[in-house]
Amino acid sequence: MTLSINEIYNQDCLEGLDQIKSETVDLLLTDPPFGIDFDKVGSQYNRKQKELGRLYIEIHEDYYDFTLQWLQAAWKAMKPTASGFIFSGWNRLGDILNALTETGFRLVNHLIWKYQFGVFTKKRFVTSHYHILYFTKLAAKDDNLRTFNRISEYSSSPGKLYFEDVWRIKRDYQKGGDKTPTRLPLAITDKCIRIASNEGDLVLEPFLGSGSVVLSCIKYNRRYLGFEISEPIFTIAKKRIEEMRNQFEEKSNKLDNWLIKTKN
Ligand SMILES: C[S@@+](CC[C@H](N)C(=O)[O-])C[C@H]1O[C@@H](n2cnc3c(N)ncnc32)[C@H](O)[C@@H]1O
Repeated sequence: MTLSINEIYNQDCLEGLDQIKSETVDLLLTDPPFGIDFDKVGSQYNRKQKELGRLYIEIHEDYYDFTLQWLQAAWKAMKPTASGFIFSGWNRLGDILNALTETGFRLVNHLIWKYQFGVFTKKRFVTSHYHILYFTKLAAKDDNLRTFNRISEYSSSPGKLYFEDVWRIKRDYQKGGDKTPTRLPLAITDKCIRIASNEGDLVLEPFLGSGSVVLSCIKYNRRYLGFEISEPIFTIAKKRIEEMRNQFEEKSNKLDNWLIKTKN
């Protein structure tokens, strides 16, 4: 099968990644499966989204081997100047860090995403952060080739360009409809994409889930390619992507009309 750009596939990424033309991807932005029993997590935190949680496909084989396999395939698909972000909870962080190093990537930052999580725990602290590993294929001596846009709205001190490695971003409140348990807020995928890629760049998300990464690509005019193995989750992603595309087409149509009107 030949893959098309700006398309998502209901497919195992281990098969899909091998079909990507070598050295074409500018940015890998992904939120892989956690490698934990989602039902247990769901009940532990009393989530009402247990049903959809079951539709997510989890990794029951060796998590390190699985991670190494998809990272090596992603490496081949990425340009020599490419960089990437991987989201990870704390429980599988060690495996991901080891697999990243083994593959040959160089870690640039270890970011923390701090979110709010209003649950009561009896004998442990409430998990309210996520890890984001920011890395590159480039060797340190060539680091000047890495895309890093210093967008002022993301600086932590007004007027100065301090970019802190702790990001305080709220989780989305999902109203009705197709709730998905691990949906990334667009505020976070927008930020990664705007800082680490340029318009027209190709962004790869091998573990789409409900498709937040692709939505940010549409908003900011990046090309994309994505895979999701679960059919029901893929359907949710497809719907969200179509809605976002329509919204953006509507916006550009309005803009075109406005231009025509002002010209007359
Ligand atoms: C943590 S979730 C991603 C959530 C996503 N960031 C969002 O905003 O909804 C990981 C996703 O990877 C999918 N997945 C698991 N194994 C996969 C594989 N081998 N290939 C493609 N997708 C896979 C799961 O079904 C799940 O939807």
